[in-house]
Amino acid sequence: MKSIASAPAKIILFGEHFIVYGGKAILCSINKRITVESELTKTGQIEIESSLGKLKISKSDTYKNTDSVLRPIVYIAQRMFEKFHSESGIKITIKAEFPSGVGLGSSSACCVAAAGSISGLFGNHTKEEILKIAIDAERTIFENTSGADCTACVYGGILEYSKDGHIRKLEFLPKFDLVVANSGITHSTSKVVSMVKQFKDERQETFSSLCTQEADLIEDALACLQRNDLTKLGKLMTQNQEFLEKIGVSNDTLRSMISLAKDASYGAKLTGAGDGGCIIALADKTNLEKTQSALAKKYECFSAKIDTRGLEQGSA
Ligand code: PMV
Repeated sequence: MKSIASAPAKIILFGEHFIVYGGKAILCSINKRITVESELTKTGQIEIESSLGKLKISKSDTYKNTDSVLRPIVYIAQRMFEKFHSESGIKITIKAEFPSGVGLGSSSACCVAAAGSISGLFGNHTKEEILKIAIDAERTIFENTSGADCTACVYGGILEYSKDGHIRKLEFLPKFDLVVANSGITHSTSKVVSMVKQFKDERQETFSSLCTQEADLIEDALACLQRNDLTKLGKLMTQNQEFLEKIGVSNDTLRSMISLAKDASYGAKLTGAGDGGCIIALADKTNLEKTQSALAKKYECFSAKIDTRGLEQGSA
């Protein structure tokens, strides 16, 4: 039997970086997915095939020795083998509909889909159990993950979260399209987070004032999302981008992408850590095509909607 699970990509709509210093952020899952298929084998090995590379190790080799982005997947397989005292090997195949390393949450989606798929080989697990396994797995490579990305992947929809662990799924579902454009520049989240820390240490007053302004902006954004006021929401995105410019996480490529998108859409900003990665532009059916063609002239881009499916599991 093959156990199959899929989980969505995520996007940070508002609040990246400021969240590290106590603010809130708003994120949503989108309709681009990672699918993981797994089946038990008699090889005594853990075999993984994905666009991020291939891995074949003995199941008794600890995940800690796996020097690869695939370490969380090895962790999940070993955790399940241990829990269920299994003698089997396992073959795992990962397929993604979106690129990795550009702030779209490929690592979390991979962990959630792998936790869903691999746990499915050993019986039923609740979504809460799968979320816990996925967050523990992601911690094997990102020790300080807030868990918000994995939560969005499991439940879908749109959520607000803060670093102290507060995660709230919004009960309403705004209607909009996003155009996601990829700068093609991969970034290191931890490097960009350190740059912002340096900015904060050197310019404490400016940074603290920006944190206050961002907190107000997030409250406005939550109200706009609730009444689906895309005109105002777009303006808030553009304003959020200005704050991100001030703390130094934008660059020329992102600026030129945002300026391509700005006139066609309701508003645009970088998403995630910045200094590369992706931008998002807010649209609906009236301006989606225009926005996408403005960006597609120079950049890889796709349109996305909020995903409501979250984690899905099945078998074949
Ligand atoms: O680019 P991503 O998806 O890794 O997002 C990073 C978001 C930050 O706020 C910059 C860091 C964090 O831990 O929240």
